[in-house]
Amino acid sequence: MAPDIFLTTSSPEDTRNLGQKIGKIVTDGTIIALFGDLGSGKTTFAQGLAKGLGVPDDTYVTSPSYALINEYEGRCHLFHMDLYRITTPSELEDLGFDDIISGRGVVAIEWSERLPENVLSNSLSIHFDILGRETRSVSIFAYGLECKLLIKDIKKSA
Ligand SMILES: Nc1ncnc2c1ncn2[C@@H]1O[C@H](COP(=O)(O)OP(=O)(O)OP(=O)(O)O)[C@@H](O)[C@H]1O
Ligand SMILES: [Mg+2]
Repeated sequence: MAPDIFLTTSSPEDTRNLGQKIGKIVTDGTIIALFGDLGSGKTTFAQGLAKGLGVPDDTYVTSPSYALINEYEGRCHLFHMDLYRITTPSELEDLGFDDIISGRGVVAIEWSERLPENVLSNSLSIHFDILGRETRSVSIFAYGLECKLLIKDIKKSA
C-alpha cells in the first residue's frame, strides 16, 4: 500500500521540523507509531513533535531507550516510549501500556515493530529509512478515520 505522505529529509533539522509541524496538528488520543532502524531519526522526530505540542524549549527531549517512557506537558500530555528492549506482551502490560493508549494524551512510540497489530489500527504510522548520511525517507500511513483526517491537515500546513 502506498503511503499517505512520502517525503525525504536532508538533515536532522528537517526531521525535527516535520515533527513540529505534525505536533501542531495532532490532538489528544493520537497514537504515532514510529518505525525504522537505529539512528534513522525517530527520537529526532519526537523532539520536533514535542516542540509542536508546546513542550517548552528548555525541556530537553531525550531518547526513552532506558526509561522506556518519558512524559512531557504541552498543549497535550505527551508520552514518548521506546519499545526496543520489550520482548514480550507482558512487559508491555507492566508499563501500563493499555491505560496509556486508551487514555488522553498523544503517544509517540519508537520501535513500534514490537507492537501488537491491533494498536496500529488507529494510528499515524511513520516509517524512517536511512538513505544516506543525512538523508532519510519518511513514509506516513494513516489508519482509522481520525488519522486520515489528520493527513489532510498535515498536507495543508506549510
Ligand atoms: N535527515 C535526518 N533526520 C534525522 N536524523 C538525522 C538525519 N540526518 C542525520 N541524522 C542523524 O541521525 C541520528 C538519528 O538519531 P535518532 O536518535 O533520532 O534515531 P532513532 O531512530 O531514535 O534511533 P534509536 O533506534 O537508536 O532510538 C542523529 O545522530 C541525527 O543527527
Ligand atoms: Mg530513538
